[in-house]
Amino acid sequence: MTMEYESNNWIWDWLYSSPHLFGGLMVTAALLGFSTSYFGGIGVFPSYGWSNFGIFLKKKRERKRIRVYMDGCFDLMHYGHANALRQAKALGDELVVGVVSDEEIVANKGPPVLSMEERLALVSGLKWVDQVIANAPYEITEKFMNTLFNEHKIDYVIHGDDPCLLPDGTDAYALAKKAGRYKQIKRTEGVSSTDIVGRILSSLKDNKNSEGDSGKRQQSQRGQLSQFLPTSRRIVQFSNGKGPGPNARIIYIDGAFDLFHAGHVEILKKARQLGDFLLVGIHADHIVSEQRGMPYPVMHLLERTLSVLACRYVDEVIIGAPWGVTKDMITTFNISLVVHGTIAESNTLLPGETDPYAVPKSLGIFRMLESPKSITTSSVAQRIVANHEAYMKRNAKKTQSEKKYYEGKAYVEGD
Ligand SMILES: *[C@@H]1O[C@H](CO)[C@@H](O)[C@H](O)[C@H]1NC(C)=O
Repeated sequence: MTMEYESNNWIWDWLYSSPHLFGGLMVTAALLGFSTSYFGGIGVFPSYGWSNFGIFLKKKRERKRIRVYMDGCFDLMHYGHANALRQAKALGDELVVGVVSDEEIVANKGPPVLSMEERLALVSGLKWVDQVIANAPYEITEKFMNTLFNEHKIDYVIHGDDPCLLPDGTDAYALAKKAGRYKQIKRTEGVSSTDIVGRILSSLKDNKNSEGDSGKRQQSQRGQLSQFLPTSRRIVQFSNGKGPGPNARIIYIDGAFDLFHAGHVEILKKARQLGDFLLVGIHADHIVSEQRGMPYPVMHLLERTLSVLACRYVDEVIIGAPWGVTKDMITTFNISLVVHGTIAESNTLLPGETDPYAVPKSLGIFRMLESPKSITTSSVAQRIVANHEAYMKRNAKKTQSEKKYYEGKAYVEGD
């Protein structure tokens, strides 16, 4: 058992016991349904509080734990967000994440694709996140910053290296900077939510323009759309770096895990609870294209891999898993149980297709898992397209009324 596990366990227990500290604003991970048993089954400590901390963590008794804060909309979670939060966490001991409210996103950028609940589930599912604050403001006001420092005991506010200006042109983080409580991270990952929306829309357009064209051309276009330069270092940073312990019960789940969403987090959590070690097979790009057609996968294999690795319930991944679970895989990885969610993109076999789970079924080690959420990758993609269409319509209306305004003005002036 590592110190890291113990410290995590302690945080969860403290969250259970201290929800009053955060008033109505704070949603603790406990409220979102995380089980402390995930953290190695240490069990619940009989009492809580800062005074007990040293008993469990002698090494850190002398030092106050540094709490850092970072916020965002987190509409469409991607490895760029995950990497920003990973870096933020490294600047302290506990990472508190503010998730901007639906209303504030509507007012500032138009309607979000994911609901507050879905965005909270996604952010809380990241392995670097210790607490989340629901309904954070879009702009860090002086009032909110004081709440962070005084109520939430935040030591440092973290932000990316992109400038963040308030409507009056002043630096949104001026107060934190003056107080010496601001830290910056680099935020260049080659992906953004806007970029993902662009990929879906352009794939759909390509599809319309080139009916019957083979997937090859589109595959190469998808490659061009991604600005991500995968490095082994990034994969290592996202990995757990631990193998299964002796006698560990290894659970296997596979899928595309494209446009990583709240439904993925929930099914991975459920799968993880069935054993001690969760191995996730991520299907290769060509398999996802064959099974689902364009525009899938929206995210290529290494991008999907990072999103899965960022999830706290995942212990290990197979990068480019085969469609069918083989006997060889089961032996090599000592898989005890293979699971599959009831809600998936393609749970019905095409005629002539062999069941990908035939082998684990014949061995009696296959189980269907009731999917806790009905959200799927294609439903997220549909929401993105619908949002975009509504946006275009709104814009068209705006220019039309603007046109009328100017026409009216010209008329009056000319009169
Ligand atoms: C394989 O998994 C089982 C648990 O399902 C465990 O008891 C056994 O020790 C594992 N074997 C190896 C070689 O790790």
